[in-house]
Amino acid sequence: MMWDFDEIVNRDGTNCIKYDRREDTFGTKDIIPMWVADMDYKTPDFIVSALMDRLNHPIYGYTYRPPDYFFSIMEWHERRHKWKIEKEWICYTPGVVPALNICTLAFTQPDDSIIVQPPVYFPFFSAVESHGRKLVYNQLIETEEGWTMDFDSLEKSIDSRTRMIIISNPHNPVGRAWSHTELSRLAEICVKNKILILSDEIHCDLVLPGFIHTPIATLSPEIAENTVTCLAPSKTFNLAGLSTSSVVISNPLLRRTFVRTRDNLHIGNGNIFGTVASIAAYSNGNEWLAALLDYIDLNIDCADDYFRKMIPEIIPVKPEASYMIWLDCRKFGMTGKERQDFFVKNAGVGMNEGATFGPGGEGFMRMNVATTRQNVIKALEQIEKAVSAIR
Ligand SMILES: Cc1ncc(COP(=O)(O)O)c(C=O)c1O
Repeated sequence: MMWDFDEIVNRDGTNCIKYDRREDTFGTKDIIPMWVADMDYKTPDFIVSALMDRLNHPIYGYTYRPPDYFFSIMEWHERRHKWKIEKEWICYTPGVVPALNICTLAFTQPDDSIIVQPPVYFPFFSAVESHGRKLVYNQLIETEEGWTMDFDSLEKSIDSRTRMIIISNPHNPVGRAWSHTELSRLAEICVKNKILILSDEIHCDLVLPGFIHTPIATLSPEIAENTVTCLAPSKTFNLAGLSTSSVVISNPLLRRTFVRTRDNLHIGNGNIFGTVASIAAYSNGNEWLAALLDYIDLNIDCADDYFRKMIPEIIPVKPEASYMIWLDCRKFGMTGKERQDFFVKNAGVGMNEGATFGPGGEGFMRMNVATTRQNVIKALEQIEKAVSAIR
């Protein structure tokens, strides 16, 4: 293999949230960090050398995004996801969470309702509530086949103030790569009721072998006209510290409104290094990503197998996309705080507590396995030891 995902890279003292914020978050540094969505692998050489080349020019003044920024995004999404994006549709944003907040400001008014489908990535909640909009939950449901959307309840939760729905596609934290059928049903309801679809597709490149990602905007021209999609290289290539993402909007009216709101906040400039890294990643990243996905898939298999054989009290929900495993810990009957304390203090593993993802997350933990296999195995062994002590 050209890339060594087994290599242990010491990240201490780099101001990285995952390691250097352990004490603040978990009350101790003495844990294996398996929380924030950040990977422990070295940035691939083709991104580092592009950054170095730019760094070597010693002036870092204002810049703009060159044509390659747009073409590399267009080519990547056409090749990987069969989505033909036009250059004009791509609007820069300094992160997907900022983009979600801009969308709330751009497309809704105070007191309008915005639907989210928990358990879901928790910044969706603040992107609604911190701007005085009403947060409406349409909870995902657990079925024999896994987690899915509740379309009946979605229809019932719509009223005259409902303006927008924010979806996570693929879904963080339950790991679903939503099917064509599910997305079509959702889009049909939204188009019928004139509800704008804000689709956060930041995890789209992390669909695991055997699954596919469907960009919701590709379903039909009518759905595309009613959709705003967030994309970024930041999960795929672990570039979140470079604050660079894009929003794709084919509807010119929506795009103008979005750009005006973004520019009123003066956050459209971006940074030199994010632009350079994004171009390098999307232009050269195919082989590296294939190797990464194989490695992550094996980490997931390894954890899934271990839980089923050695820790049957914890039921893993095997993800179709992303490096997060949604762990059903309801058998322990603990409160969220008790469960978090148990994993931190008894097992020495720091994960995200399920209830932080909203209703439906109670009793779960989210485990990030984008680390070395050695680390994954160590964490599993520590959890097994802690669980066997309370059996
Ligand atoms: C669904 C989802 N959206 C957005 C983000 C973060 O995006 P950004 O760092 O670009 O604001 C994450 C990070 O984990 C995520 O899982």
